Amino acid sequence: MARILIAHGPNLNLLGSREQHIYGTTTLAGINQNLRQEASRLGHETECFQSNHEGELIDWIQTHGRQADILILNPAAFTHTSVALRDAILGVSIPVIEVHLSNIYRREPFRAHSYIADIALGQVAGFGPHSYELALQAAHQVLSQNADPTPQA
Ligand code: DQA
Repeated sequence: MARILIAHGPNLNLLGSREQHIYGTTTLAGINQNLRQEASRLGHETECFQSNHEGELIDWIQTHGRQADILILNPAAFTHTSVALRDAILGVSIPVIEVHLSNIYRREPFRAHSYIADIALGQVAGFGPHSYELALQAAHQVLSQNADPTPQA
């Protein structure tokens, strides 16, 4: 049994109604419920969190990161702006899988840069809510291999 953290950045609380042509109609509650169920089926514990505030995400990662095995993170707009979020992940040495609903490389050029990508085990982008499921499967795989996937700067 592993402990998996799942964190969502700003505006993802609006999923379901927000820019449906890009993000679809599934709500964040729906995504979390699905992940909790699937993780428990795989024998893992999950803790989910969403915030619109950079500092709150950082505080949450600092508080929970050392007691957890892996972080599935959709940093949303902070992907493209936040050195502080990156440093928080490195600070607690938690392996991270980066998730995006949309394919950030097919959108505005500013979305093509991620401050998280090069410290992540991997990135899943472009499959809507299914991106999170794929990330969970990847997390399960990594945890089962019992590797030491520590992020590198
Ligand atoms: C997003 C992509 C980001 O560029 C954007 O700011 C988001 C959502 C995604 O899941 O596709 O808020 O992370």
